[in-house]
Amino acid sequence: MMGQGAVNLALGGGEFYLRHARIIKATMTQTKNSKVNRAWINEHINDPYVIKAQREGYRARAAFKLQELDDSFGLVKPGQLVVDLGSAPGAWSQYLRRKLLTSADKGQGDTAAVTSAAVIALDILPMEPVDGVVFLQGDFREADTLSRLEQAVAGRPADLVVSDMAPNLSGIASADAARIAHLVELAVEFAKAHLKPDGALVVKLFHGSGYDDLVRLFRETFRVVKPFKPKSSRDRSSETFLVGRGLKIR
Ligand SMILES: C[S@@+](CC[C@H](N)C(=O)[O-])C[C@H]1O[C@@H](n2cnc3c(N)ncnc32)[C@H](O)[C@@H]1O
Repeated sequence: MMGQGAVNLALGGGEFYLRHARIIKATMTQTKNSKVNRAWINEHINDPYVIKAQREGYRARAAFKLQELDDSFGLVKPGQLVVDLGSAPGAWSQYLRRKLLTSADKGQGDTAAVTSAAVIALDILPMEPVDGVVFLQGDFREADTLSRLEQAVAGRPADLVVSDMAPNLSGIASADAARIAHLVELAVEFAKAHLKPDGALVVKLFHGSGYDDLVRLFRETFRVVKPFKPKSSRDRSSETFLVGRGLKIR
């Protein structure tokens, strides 16, 4: 039997969201669909990745998706500058920060690598601070947000840009596909302007309409393009990730 912390992680948040999780849980038990909702909560609190996230101090199970991507493609290295788009509640930022420091601690890096390592995170929602991570709150689609992000990057080319951004879905397939595509296209534009020539971009996207066009955009932009579905991403979710490495054009 898991405690409130697991329910909280199952609902997608960290300690920060504990109060909201309680409210959601209370509301759910009052609805007609309470059986379905209870089944959903039960499934989540028994989810091995939720339990693992709680044990390892991650704010969300999403951390393990990035870990699998990293294990498969060797993305995160000491001394890197990493930009984390759609970062809240902060599990990817936590993973990045830990990996950048751990690699250096293990002697795979050096002192210079530790001091130059940086994570710049951005989300439209607030995010509880993650030690060593610079956080900006803003809508990535807005020019003002982009300009604040560019100021934070301060002309230093990024080694890695990761985007787990997911828009609020309306349920209207064509509108949702367009929203998802727009965020991916903006992430590609940002990568073209700010990645090192041999840097990498990871984006989350969804199978269905728009997927093929986004793969085509990646192939036009990067020398190597790989789709990847982490085991920690639920089977029933159409969510998948694209990894692009090495810019074709500067
Ligand atoms: C699946 S969550 C990210 C989880 C995160 N990677 C983690 O590990 O904790 C998707 C995030 O994308 C953010 N997002 C969606 N649209 C955005 C936008 N236009 N600009 C910035 N963030 C956005 C949402 O607010 C949400 O926090």
